[in-house]
Formats: sequence, C-alpha cells, structure tokens
Amino acid sequence: MVQFNLPKNSKILKGQYFKDKTGSSNIKIVHIYRWDPEKNENPREDTFEVDLNTCGNKVLDILNKIKNEIDSSLTFRKSCAHGVCGSCAMNVDGQNTLSCMKSHKDIKGDLRIFPLPHLKVLKDLVADLSTLYKQYESIEPWLKIKKSKSEKNEINQSKENRKKLDGLYECIMCACCSTSCPSYWWNGESYLGPAVLLQAYRWISDSRDEEKKERLKKVADKLKLYRCHTIMNCTSSCPKGLNPAKAIGSIKKMLATS
Ligand code: SF4
Ligand code: SF4
Ligand code: FES
Repeated sequence: MVQFNLPKNSKILKGQYFKDKTGSSNIKIVHIYRWDPEKNENPREDTFEVDLNTCGNKVLDILNKIKNEIDSSLTFRKSCAHGVCGSCAMNVDGQNTLSCMKSHKDIKGDLRIFPLPHLKVLKDLVADLSTLYKQYESIEPWLKIKKSKSEKNEINQSKENRKKLDGLYECIMCACCSTSCPSYWWNGESYLGPAVLLQAYRWISDSRDEEKKERLKKVADKLKLYRCHTIMNCTSSCPKGLNPAKAIGSIKKMLATS
C-alpha cells in the first residue's frame, strides 16, 4: 500500500514556552507558528502566557504585546490596525481573518495563530503573497479610458452606476478568501482565485471603463476562472463581509450571455 508522509523538515515541532512573569490571574494561553528562514530548523509552535489585564481586545493587541514585552523576534505584518490595509491577515483559531478586527474575547480557551494557509512562509506569520500580487497586476486594476478623454473632461458616473460597485470597492486585498479556497490551494499558479476575480469584476462593472469586453475576454479561461467550483469558502471567510463567490458567478453569467 502506498504511504504518504510529510517531509521531516516540514513537521511542526513543540517550541518554547514563555511563562507569565506578572502573576496575573487573567491569562490567555497563545500558541503561535514560528519559522525562521535563517535557521536550519523545523517550524515550531511557541506558547505564550499573556496577561489580558494589560492588553487590548484584539488579536493584534496580543501580538503587539508579545513582540514588545516577551519576544521581539516575533514577525508579523500590520499597518492601519483598523481593517483598512489588509496587511494583518492570518489564520486565527482555524479561520482566516484580520487580526486587528478579530476580538480574542470571542475565542474560548487557548488561542492559535498561524500564517495564511497554503502559501510559502517567509517568516513566522508572514506569508508570501507575491504570486497573488502578480495575478492582481495581470487584471490591470485601474480605469482604462481614452487618454484624450481623460485629460479633457471630468468623468462622471451616475448614482445608479456608482451603486454597482458596492460590495466590490470595499475589498482590501487581504487574501483571506483566496487562501481559504481549495481550488486556489491546488491551482494557485493558474487559477486567479476569489480576491483577484472579485477585483476583476469590480473593473468590469465600472461604467466609466472602456475595456469591459477585453477584460472579460482576458479572464474567460478554463484555468483562470473556471477552476472555481462554487465551494463558497471564500465568502464565509471575508472579514469585510463581501461575496467573492457571487462576483465570480456574475463574471460567468456575463460570459454566458454575451
Ligand atoms: S466559490 Fe470559488 S473562489 Fe470561492 S472558495 Fe469556492 S472555489 Fe474558491
Ligand atoms: S474579498 Fe474580502 S477576503 Fe477577499 S481579499 Fe477582498 S476583503 Fe479580503
Ligand atoms: S492592520 Fe490594517 S487591516 Fe489589520
């Protein structure tokens, strides 16, 4: 019988245990994935006892506290701390989310924090998003109109047409959806994935854009688009409450009826 084993160096080992030194009775046990490319070691799961009496409510507050007070080598991305930049996306308690928006109070028991799944890890909680960014660039996410027109006139949009961008323009490219999509896990190099397809649909839907047909033609590909099998993980993982699966369905419908 064929037996599949993970390579030995990919196994997550038990890491260091950082005991609370404050004597607090309000402690959260936090397990965090660690991997350092400069050390020739397996990934490990470190455990921290965090005093919640001196910590904000969000998962990002816990990470900041650990970095500032316990282990400064802990590496993660963050910027706005208000759910706007998308940089703090990670897997918290088994779900992809923004650590600055996720309250640790919602999580009973120990807290587990991992990088976004199925991506190469650069260090600790920082996943490699370079393929996703290249895919994003490939859909040319900017307004395409004749130069002469754009230089001379203000380009107006009716309220009705502007409304068509609701549920699309709010996307912050955090990649929570794409990295929760099984089709993207297995075909990430060729399938564009829900984040990029939602963005593609955002530009296809913009009444001011003059390259709708070309944009549709570009994504009409059995690998780029039709690898979506409507599993819907993307929509349930979007921390902004958007619906990438619906956007993908709308592109398919447009192609079927055009
Ligand atoms: S609906 Fe499509 S994009 Fe969303 S998780 Fe499923 S396969 Fe992926
Ligand atoms: S659709 Fe939602 S989950 Fe996906 S990239 Fe945009 S904001 Fe993030
Ligand atoms: S830090 Fe910007 S979205 Fe979380």
